[in-house]
Amino acid sequence: MNEFKSKIRTIQWIDTYSRMADQTLFPYEFKYIDIKTGQEMFDAIKKMIVRGAPAIGIAGAHGVVLYAQELENENLSREDFIQKLLEKADYMATSRPTAVNLMWAVEKQKEIIKNSKSDIKGLVEELKQNGIKLENEDIEINKKIGDFGSTVVPKGAAILTHCNAGALATVGYGTALGVVRSAFAKDNSIQVFADETRPRQQGARITTLELTMDGIPTTLITDGMCSYFMKKGMIDMVVVGADRIAANGDTANKIGTYTVAIAAKYHNIPFYIAAPLSTIDINIKTGDEIPIEERSHDEVTHINGKPVCAQGVNVINPGFDVTPHELITGIITEKGILRPDYNKSIAEAFKNQ
Ligand code: MRU
Repeated sequence: MNEFKSKIRTIQWIDTYSRMADQTLFPYEFKYIDIKTGQEMFDAIKKMIVRGAPAIGIAGAHGVVLYAQELENENLSREDFIQKLLEKADYMATSRPTAVNLMWAVEKQKEIIKNSKSDIKGLVEELKQNGIKLENEDIEINKKIGDFGSTVVPKGAAILTHCNAGALATVGYGTALGVVRSAFAKDNSIQVFADETRPRQQGARITTLELTMDGIPTTLITDGMCSYFMKKGMIDMVVVGADRIAANGDTANKIGTYTVAIAAKYHNIPFYIAAPLSTIDINIKTGDEIPIEERSHDEVTHINGKPVCAQGVNVINPGFDVTPHELITGIITEKGILRPDYNKSIAEAFKNQ
């Protein structure tokens, strides 16, 4: 395994609480905050203190442990404890709607709640251990994604990415940026073009920060520039993450991804999705069924608290778009690179789960 030794850790369970990097402060400050209650975790996910599909999955799993710890102090019967905890878990899963990793991780905790034979204390411990297990597995999965993905990166490639699907969108290492890290470990002549990613600028604020911290050559461009550089022959491939992938391969990712995919197709540039199997929602047939988060209009009308448009103008702010499967060259997972026909390759990947 070619392993790039990035030290970035986004979220970690510590004894009785969850510690996470506060992503609202990037790039000015890299500061960890401790989340000690279930409601604090719900708010941290909603306000995007923690963000990125796999990272909010782990945050959701930690959130269920925090609720369990709180309910443990309420002297409830085991039956009442379980009922209340399942309700809290369902509430946690509603903190953001598009990234299915959140629902997936909460569901993993709910399976423990429903199937455990332990007393309340034992059950809380089981949930904690499961949260830690999911957390550690996330990094291992990302390294596998990185290894598979690095096999399709040409020597000296310029890789375009959108938003942040890096160490800071996961527990560590990253999905799309995991591919970059593994490729860089083999060939340090590769480089990254990072889309700024309006409106919240995760590309500018987070991707450039983490790649620079790891010494990976990075060029920041604004979202509208990608086809200009593609036409000039300056982009060799695109790798992005995903928030939810339907059974046919249609993929929801940060708004603007679809535009990049269309531009890549026009210029004959390979367009890859890098994501763990937990991002695939086999319960939905196509991308039309993916719920798209509508976010605050302030994200569009303001930058750093200052208005950038006429007051009162109409605004729409969907957080994600869906890239149709026919624009996707391959989906890089921990089980290998899935290729079209995605209905078949995705079903196959889930068979041996
Ligand atoms: O709104 P965000 O910042 O949570 O959106 C993140 C993205 O769209 C990422 O590209 C996606 O979650 C993949 S993360 C490995």
